Amino acid sequence: MPVIVFASPKGGSGKTTSATLLAGELAAGGARVTIIDADPNRNISEWASRPGCPEGIEVLSEVREETILDDIDRAAAESPFVVIDLEGTASLMVSYAISLADLVVIPVQGSHLDARQAARAIRLIENQGRATRRAIPYVVVLTRTSPALTPRTLRHVQAELEGAGVPVLDVQLIDREAFRAVFSYGGTVAGLAKHGLGNLESARVNARAFAASIVERLRQGRGAAA
Ligand SMILES: Nc1ncnc2c1ncn2[C@@H]1O[C@H](COP(=O)(O)OP(=O)(O)OP(=O)(O)O)[C@@H](O)[C@H]1O
Ligand SMILES: [Mg+2]
Repeated sequence: MPVIVFASPKGGSGKTTSATLLAGELAAGGARVTIIDADPNRNISEWASRPGCPEGIEVLSEVREETILDDIDRAAAESPFVVIDLEGTASLMVSYAISLADLVVIPVQGSHLDARQAARAIRLIENQGRATRRAIPYVVVLTRTSPALTPRTLRHVQAELEGAGVPVLDVQLIDREAFRAVFSYGGTVAGLAKHGLGNLESARVNARAFAASIVERLRQGRGAAA
């Protein structure tokens, strides 16, 4: 049912990583998830073709600007969760996906330059909202943060976002080797143990908390809409 769109015009902000972690955690919890891989680089499709992709995950790769609205409607009718990964530029495909989103997640790394790009994403979401005459819920997720400290630049970005009234997810995605490694080996963080990666528990806890927080946002959004 709910359509969760990962969007930011900033390349490399963490869209694909956070979308994959979310889908992996939802599937680990027993949910069926359709991922629409709307990035022509097809990073998620490549990840899903490797061993260890959870059973509950289906990936749609052949999406085009002309078909994406139908693809999203069909996936939302059939699947309990639809996760959409978009390319890091503005395009009609990006606008279409945002227009059907129940929640747009905007990954932001802790620098002023990243926060400026997030502001562009928010303008696009608000414009799509105007065009479709509904408020499209969105949230910023701070990514690649340090587990140990909050650098001054990140604190500045947090203050800027708060000052602008931008909703920020209460869980940050920490910079973890495991979050890179899932793309090398396939599968989810939980499956990385057999490849000899260490410190997986902290990464798993973080990914799970991230997914739980997104699900809670969706629940709140539904409540507000009702
Ligand atoms: N939480 C994280 N921990 C460790 N590495 C991360 C994390 N998030 C992202 N990365 C790394 O940062 C780089 C960019 O991330 P990703 O590909 O997810 O961004 P993107 O927004 O999808 O990029 P693009 O705009 O090119 O599609 C990748 O090398 C990825 O492995
Ligand atoms: Mg990407």
